[in-house]
Amino acid sequence: MTTETNWFTKAVFYEVLVRTFADSNGDGVGDMQGLTSKLDYLQWLGVDCLWLPPFFSSPLRDGGYDVADYTNVLPEFGTIEDTRALIAAVHGRGMRIIIDFVMNHTSSAHPWFQASRTDPTGPYGDFYVWRDEPDEYLDARIIFIDTIDSNWSFDEVRGQYYWHRFFDHQPDLNFENPRVFEEIQDALRFWLAMGVDGFRLDAVPYLIEQDGTDCENLPGTHALLKRVRAMVEEEYPGRILLCEANQWPQEVIPYFGDGDECQLAFHFPVMPRMYMALAREDKTCLVDIIAATPPLPPGTQWGTFLRNHDELTLEMVTPAERDFMWDFYAPEPRMKCNLGIRRRLAPLVDGDVQRIKLLHALLLALPGSPVLYYGDEIGMGDNIWLQDRDGVRTPMQWDNSPGAGFSTADPSTFPFPIVDSPGFTQDVVNVEAQLDDPDSLLHWLQRTLSVRRELEALALGDFVDLEGDNAAVYVVARQWGDQRVIAAFNFSASAQTATLTPGAFDPESVHVLVGGAAFGDHEGAPTMTLASHGFAWLVAR
Ligand code: GLC
Repeated sequence: MTTETNWFTKAVFYEVLVRTFADSNGDGVGDMQGLTSKLDYLQWLGVDCLWLPPFFSSPLRDGGYDVADYTNVLPEFGTIEDTRALIAAVHGRGMRIIIDFVMNHTSSAHPWFQASRTDPTGPYGDFYVWRDEPDEYLDARIIFIDTIDSNWSFDEVRGQYYWHRFFDHQPDLNFENPRVFEEIQDALRFWLAMGVDGFRLDAVPYLIEQDGTDCENLPGTHALLKRVRAMVEEEYPGRILLCEANQWPQEVIPYFGDGDECQLAFHFPVMPRMYMALAREDKTCLVDIIAATPPLPPGTQWGTFLRNHDELTLEMVTPAERDFMWDFYAPEPRMKCNLGIRRRLAPLVDGDVQRIKLLHALLLALPGSPVLYYGDEIGMGDNIWLQDRDGVRTPMQWDNSPGAGFSTADPSTFPFPIVDSPGFTQDVVNVEAQLDDPDSLLHWLQRTLSVRRELEALALGDFVDLEGDNAAVYVVARQWGDQRVIAAFNFSASAQTATLTPGAFDPESVHVLVGGAAFGDHEGAPTMTLASHGFAWLVAR
C-alpha cells in the first residue's frame, strides 16, 4: 500500500454489499469471508478502495442504515475477527477500505432509543429529538415520500413525538446533547483503530435542526463535521471522510471546509445528467452543471458515480427534467421510487453494452474519483418488484449455477432472489462467462481502468470543455503537467462529426487509447467522427 496522503484523489472506489456479494458458509447470506475470497477479482478489475455500506447489527429495515449497534457486526455477516481479517487482506493487496457511518440516526431498536423512550430522565433521555407537539421544523422536506408523511412520529411509550428525517423506525440523534457526539466519536474510533481507511458519512446534511430553516446544511452541522475531521486528523491522519450530501454543488462545497472537513463529497447533480445527455442526445445539461460546479479546495476531490444501492435519485434536477427522466427511463409506474428510479445501469440502457461502456468512459473521464457499484461491471439487471430499493441489491452473479455462484444454499433462502428478467438471468449475465470472453464488458472495463491508472490527467488534471460545434458530441480535455488527454463522447444513436476550434489538437498526431474515432481537418479546424454512441480517449499534440 502506498503511503501517499492524496491516494483518494485518484482512486477507483467500488461499493459492495456484504449481504449479497458472496456467501462463504452456505447459509444463503453473504458474509465477510465471502467478500474476502473475492478480493483477487476486485484487485484484478482495478479497484483501489472498497466501500462497505453498513454491516452492523440491525433489523435491516433500511438495508442496514438502521443501525442497532455501531460497534458490532450483524452475526449473519460474520464476526469482528472476520472483519479484521478482511481489512488485513484488503491492505495486503495494496487496496483500501472505507465503511459507511450513519451519524444522523439510529434504528429504533438501538438500546439508546429503547432507553430514551422508557426513561426520559435517564442517561439516554435526551439522546433523541423529543417534543410534546409535532410543531417544530415544519419547513424540513420529507425525503422518503413513498413511505412517510411526516418527520414527526408519536411514541406511545414515552407519550411524546420524536424527530426523524428518514423512516419512522430511524429516530434522529440529538446532537445538541454533547454526549451524543462523544458516543459517535468513540464508535468512529473503534473502526479507525481496527484499520479502516475512512468513512462514507451517511446523510450528513440533516445532523442539526433549527426552526424556521429547511434543517439542511446548517452551520452547526459543519461545525460537527469539522470536529470529526479534527479527531481523525489528530489520531488517525490520512484516513478519509466521504460526504453523502445530496445537494447542489454550491451547498456541497462547504462540506470540504477549508480542507478541514471532508476530503471527498459525492457530486449528486452530475449523475442524472449523464443519463439525461444520453437520452436527449445533447450534452448541454452536462456542460451546464460542470460549469456551475465551483472549484475544489486543494487536497479534496469529488466522488462520481453512475449508480449505487439507492434509487437513481432525481432530487438534483428541475421538475421538468425529472418528468423527462421518468418518462424516458421509468416507463412503468413501478420503476419510480421516491424522487427517483429503482433500476440498475444495464436495464436503464436496455442492456446495450455500447451505452454501458459510453457511460463508464464518461464517468472515468469527468473530474472526480469514480465510485463503481457491484455488478455493474458485468451489466447486472434488477428486479423492480422487490420492496423499496432492494431490486438493485440482488445477489452478485458469479456463474450460471442455480445460486449464481453467490451461495450454495437453496436460492429461496437468499435475502433477495437472483434477477430473473429475460436477458439478465445468471445464465446470460455472470462473471465467469465474461472472464472467459476477452470481448466482454468486464474485460473492457478492466482494460479501461488499467489505462486510466496510467493517466493521472484523468484523475487530477484541469478540465477544459473543448466546445465542439455538435451538441450531441461532448469533447473535453484533461491536462496534468505534460499529460493532455482528450475524451470524446457521442450521445447520439447515429454517427456524428464535431468540428473543434482551430488548434484544439493536431489531427495528424492522435493516439487513441480507449474507444475509437476518425479524425480530419475542416478549413484548418480538427474534426472528430464518432460512431453511434461512440467514445474515445486519446492523446494528441
Ligand atoms: C442514505 C443511504 C440510504 C439510506 C438513508 C437513510 O441516503 O444511502 O440508503 O436509506 O441514508 O439512512
